[in-house]
Amino acid sequence: MNKIAIIGGTGLASLEGVEIDETKKVDTPYGSPSSALVFGHFGEKKIIFLSRHGNPHTIPPHKINYRANIHALKENGVENIIAVNAVGGITPEMHPERIVVPEQIIDYTHDRNQTFYEDNLNEVTHIDFTNPYSTVLRKQLTETSAISGLNVFVGGVYAATQGPRLETSAEIQKLEKDGCDIVGMTGMPEAALARELDIHYVCLALVVNWAAGKTDEEITMAIIEKHLEDGLGQVKLLLKKFMSSC
Ligand code: HPA
Repeated sequence: MNKIAIIGGTGLASLEGVEIDETKKVDTPYGSPSSALVFGHFGEKKIIFLSRHGNPHTIPPHKINYRANIHALKENGVENIIAVNAVGGITPEMHPERIVVPEQIIDYTHDRNQTFYEDNLNEVTHIDFTNPYSTVLRKQLTETSAISGLNVFVGGVYAATQGPRLETSAEIQKLEKDGCDIVGMTGMPEAALARELDIHYVCLALVVNWAAGKTDEEITMAIIEKHLEDGLGQVKLLLKKFMSSC
């Protein structure tokens, strides 16, 4: 497999078996990416880590420079992206600490720079986004999780919301009626930008809370952080197995 990037939290760069070679600050015509790129390798496989929310974690979802992030990875030879996203669970199977490889997205975000195709165009470009995630990478992740005995839910619809606030319970009911299973704030326009630059892109979502109104419990940062910390071990294990098998 050609060069892989993992977009996610800072903690992911400490994947067992990955040796870090260099950390490099890069610039792009769209501005600076969220963080320096961390170059490493897993055996022969080259891998780049990018902390979507910055390092330290200070950039809220609606302020992330998604174009700079994707452009920087493309410029550094990345052909495959595994995007790790924390999400809320909407439908009954999407309980906290569940890992999900969604199949579809509905985009509810607004006012984000969502395309590379807007200035100095020779022609108007409309990318095909029927299947927003790479079928090849989804299949590989699915097979890896099955072989490794990891309990991963394959399928479902990711609702990308604007944030940074969490949703109201009425909004979650509406998303559920729309057919959404999980909800997060960072899935778009990241996936579309990757498609525009011809990068295979897959989402590996970790459910860190029940979405608004799905329990009586208030959604606190403490709950989110606990499930994130507890669930990240399985995510890392899956990434490691994926890297060994691809
Ligand atoms: N809603 C939106 N984004 C999220 C959530 C949520 O409940 N949990 C983690 N990211």
